[in-house]
Amino acid sequence: MARKDHLVPVAGPGRGLWPEGPAHPAGRRGQRSLGPGLPMSLPGAPYLARQGAELRLDGCSLDALARKFGTPLYVYSQRAMLDAVAAYREALADRPHLLCFAMKANPSLAVLQTFAQAGCGFDIVSAGELERVLAAGGDASRVVFSGVGKTRAEMRRALLAGVRCFNVESQGELDVLSQVAVAEGRTAQVSLRINPDVDAGTHPYISTGLKDNKFGIAHDQALGSYRRAAALPGLQVAGIDCHIGSQITQVEPYLDALDRLLDLVEAVESEGITIHHIDVGGGLGIQYDTEAPPGADELVRRLLQRIDARGHGHRELLFEPGRSLVGNAGVLLTEVLYLKPGEAKNFCIVDAAMNDLVRPAMYQAWMAIEPCQQRAGTAATWDVVGPVCESGDWLGRGRALAVQPGDVLAVLSAGAYAMSMASNYNSRPRAAEVMLVDGRPVLIRERERLQDLMTSDRLIGTA
Ligand code: LLP
Repeated sequence: MARKDHLVPVAGPGRGLWPEGPAHPAGRRGQRSLGPGLPMSLPGAPYLARQGAELRLDGCSLDALARKFGTPLYVYSQRAMLDAVAAYREALADRPHLLCFAMKANPSLAVLQTFAQAGCGFDIVSAGELERVLAAGGDASRVVFSGVGKTRAEMRRALLAGVRCFNVESQGELDVLSQVAVAEGRTAQVSLRINPDVDAGTHPYISTGLKDNKFGIAHDQALGSYRRAAALPGLQVAGIDCHIGSQITQVEPYLDALDRLLDLVEAVESEGITIHHIDVGGGLGIQYDTEAPPGADELVRRLLQRIDARGHGHRELLFEPGRSLVGNAGVLLTEVLYLKPGEAKNFCIVDAAMNDLVRPAMYQAWMAIEPCQQRAGTAATWDVVGPVCESGDWLGRGRALAVQPGDVLAVLSAGAYAMSMASNYNSRPRAAEVMLVDGRPVLIRERERLQDLMTSDRLIGTA
């Protein structure tokens, strides 16, 4: 695969660590070798693997799935998702814990159903997400409700459904939540989301634990907020939480944040306010290219070590992983429509676009692109772009590919923040989704039809 030469500078703390970051060691991109003489490892391995020329997920030919269900098409391995859950759960086995899938990463009902049946809870950020959890058979008593802008209506709905806990992000929210709870004759369990002011070392758009981010209650205001929460009539203090960012590839920022949380727990409890659980958020990174983030088992082990060393081993632990449960479990399949070689650039025009997968356009994120059926012949260097009328509509730039029109390409690591961020821009219907269940393809979301795009529109005079 060719080295990228179009790096988009990223200012701030994310520099260098984000997949598309400029400090990525030159020449390493896309090489993914496990070591001298060892085979390449694809992001998504071992579930995703080449058998001869054919790219397979859970043993199913991706080319055949694209022909059967059409493109653009998302395909997920259920086995990869369940194994990702197991990695967290095994490491947490001897502790009281709850794994809350951050469903914004992939809110398809069948994905939620998969996690609910595996015993997971959910991290939600809207009433819409709560409805999806309930529709998928999830249990509200295993739901934590995050987000800086919960409305009264959303709070009411969540209270009546019986969510486990509200992760509260401001003093104002505490007051409103108490009022809503009193009006409904309920008590809201609350955890305060603390902004620990630590640098997660990730892209600025998805770094959330720094002072200048909108998220969480500032560390130096936290004690006062706990006093207030304890005094308000509709609230019961249950826990403490943080979430410092996403696609984090090191353990150290988690340990720094944890230390800041534990300092607060000690201060709050010395005032007689009991903190039952500690929620360390989500954020664990995955492999898009050559990153080597710690596994969930290592992250958990190091956190438990620190928690035990500081004498907090008795507390229940909550995690809110999104990307690390689903990211490497999915691919986006897209068909090559046209090849347009040019003087300055070669364009490979495919039928998926920024409306299907916005991460490259939005964050300059690098995601691997592989042919589903490898062809013999020399590769040329292509910018893989979609049909949307924007120059920012690209999926990958400067990729070495041997392709012809009609070939199917797979964008890898597309199980998280991919379909969940899809839109109808350019009046394009959203893609279909297939889940491989025990190696058998199941259509879990139908391709949107053109008439679906207009169901909420009203012509003037007919409303
Ligand atoms: N908890 C909270 C409160 C969050 O805001 C998030 C993600 C998570 C948990 C899950 O984080 P994860 O384990 O997935 O890193 N669209 C971006 C990522 C945005 C993350 C938003 N918050 C992307 O495509 O990279």
